[in-house]
Amino acid sequence: LNYNVKRDRRFILEILFNGLRRLEYRGYDSAGISIDSSSSSDPNGQLSFSPLVFRQEGNIDSLVKSVYKDVASIKLNLEELFCVHAGIAHTRWATHGEPSPKNSHPQTSGAGNEFLVVHNGVITNYEVLKETLTRHGFNFESETDTEVIPKLAKYVFDKATEEGDQSVTFSLVVLEVMRHLEGAYALIFKSHHYPNELIACKRGSPLLLGVKELSEDMHSGAPFLDLKFISENRHPKELFLSSDASAIVEHTKKVLVIEDGEVVHLKDGGVSILKFENEKGICGNALSRPSSVQRALSFLEMEVEQINKGKYEHYMQKEIHEQPESLTTTMRGRLKRGGSTKAKTVLLGGLKDHIKSIRRSRRIVFIGCGTSYNAALAARPIIEELSGVPVTMEIASDLVDRQGPIYREDTAVFVSQSGETADTLLALEYALENGALCVGITNTVGSAIARNTHCGIHINAGCEIGVASTKAYTSQIVVMAMLALAIGDDAISSQARREAIIDGLFDLPNKVREVLKLDQEMKELAKLLIAEQSLLVFGRGYNFATALEGALKVKEVSLMHSEGMLAGEMKHGPLALVDENLPIIVIATRDACFSKQQSVIQQLHARKGRLIVVCSKGDAAAVCPGGSSSCRVIEVPQVEDCLQPVVNIIPLQLLAYHLTVLRGYNVDQPRNLAKSVTTQ
Ligand code: G6P
Repeated sequence: LNYNVKRDRRFILEILFNGLRRLEYRGYDSAGISIDSSSSSDPNGQLSFSPLVFRQEGNIDSLVKSVYKDVASIKLNLEELFCVHAGIAHTRWATHGEPSPKNSHPQTSGAGNEFLVVHNGVITNYEVLKETLTRHGFNFESETDTEVIPKLAKYVFDKATEEGDQSVTFSLVVLEVMRHLEGAYALIFKSHHYPNELIACKRGSPLLLGVKELSEDMHSGAPFLDLKFISENRHPKELFLSSDASAIVEHTKKVLVIEDGEVVHLKDGGVSILKFENEKGICGNALSRPSSVQRALSFLEMEVEQINKGKYEHYMQKEIHEQPESLTTTMRGRLKRGGSTKAKTVLLGGLKDHIKSIRRSRRIVFIGCGTSYNAALAARPIIEELSGVPVTMEIASDLVDRQGPIYREDTAVFVSQSGETADTLLALEYALENGALCVGITNTVGSAIARNTHCGIHINAGCEIGVASTKAYTSQIVVMAMLALAIGDDAISSQARREAIIDGLFDLPNKVREVLKLDQEMKELAKLLIAEQSLLVFGRGYNFATALEGALKVKEVSLMHSEGMLAGEMKHGPLALVDENLPIIVIATRDACFSKQQSVIQQLHARKGRLIVVCSKGDAAAVCPGGSSSCRVIEVPQVEDCLQPVVNIIPLQLLAYHLTVLRGYNVDQPRNLAKSVTTQ
């Protein structure tokens, strides 16, 4: 922050706290913050700054309470700010070391907080670094991998100054630190030695620079970040660094996506960016001058309203209920019907130069994790049907573990809401190395997957904050159904089928609106299931994915054990679990598998299974053996078979939501989970 007017210093804390609240879905087991305390005790009358660090286990509110309590006791001068201020904050999802104040960030170089670091990612060679630094007399307090970073910074700084280099800059220190780090990271450094300065750098983990109050020239002209201009300190007034756009968007929509190897230096309210070259540095031979970076700004499409709960109590609830709108946005401008040719077609701008290659590929491999994997599984049958290309499914981590075969002739499709999941990114790296055509399907413009694939489709579902993915799942399925239509676009034989699907897509938001009316009914069902230990969900064909995803939703937020199973496998094991107590949900909407699902229901009924059946409207009698008293029925509107998973998942999302609220758990921040897992 660069302020030329007096303001209550408290607002710096508030900006940082608010940013953390926006990021809380990324991790919420502990948090920390560092701001400067100023004192004018300097004999020359100069203000001197020293970084204060607050760290707290638990959520952001615990941190806020502890900061204000401590601030009162240490009499921090919160009254006024008439200068530049550089503060940092972090919310943690533990990888190394349990949640505790000492393991929270900022991690420090030791007494005096000479160097402070917040880190998103994992340092894989931290043990070796720790050993070396310990030999040089450093004492480690935490169990984190991050602690080696500020200590290494101090080591580099001390060595440079010992050798007489009093002019070593903050960026040179960090460039040298980076040379020794392995793994994935986005880092922000703050230092007692460099007041009013911050350094950020990244490799593998996301990082954005937000720029507020650009000059008039920059508003009207090409949106280039004129680093020199900003460094002259006329504009802007505020600069933000964040791993996620949601912490920035309420301040500015103008951002620079920082790339791997770049080092961002904020100094006195100005900014410069250097590119790290892997050369010998100040601990070895002289570091050759890194090149400076000039790049276009991007504009965030996210709206602030998207990150508010509006009239809803929880983000998950809001996101479930906004699916008619999110699906409409996903399809906007991409479906065509009517016009002079009366043809019904799909236009996917991001694929237009690659669609022929996808059609010609030997195989399409879908790769993702969690809900994104399930979405791809739901779309698999329609892609196989319309493209005629064999489709295989890969869980990202498993593909990498096995080093499974990926060929030049393959199209590898990477599905990820965040576009930043570490496992999926590693699989992408692997597929690129193996020469496959890589397609990204993400909800995050500018994300690593969007940037590093050859082509792709944004799902445009709007910002999803609830840790349990809901609206992104349905939008992913719709995007993949459109992908199937686009690949199969040249086949006359399937034209009628494609047109029926396009009609179905146009009508889908209405059908979703209709199925959302089940809200109260699902709440009643949740009340009946509240004390259960376990739940099974059976599906097949298009709705095998619905079974997996429905069970995942229940499991991750309500903490009830729940398994999604392929109904065709029921008699090969799971049937042993069936008794009159265990609740079982069977998905039996109308499609080619309907009669098979009817027999599954018969078999479960014969073993006195406690049945809940999701069926098409009007099918209650057809699915309940001996009439509707023998099972509980949830009727949903019927749509084209390949779009049915979009409708069918909604009652299960509602069930998971209500079960969680009734059981008294935090629906937006499920235990131990993070929205976007950017570490392996
Ligand atoms: C985490 C989240 C899941 C999500 C998965 C994949 O595990 O908790 O909800 O489905 O990551 O995330 P992605 O952003 O790649 O879709």
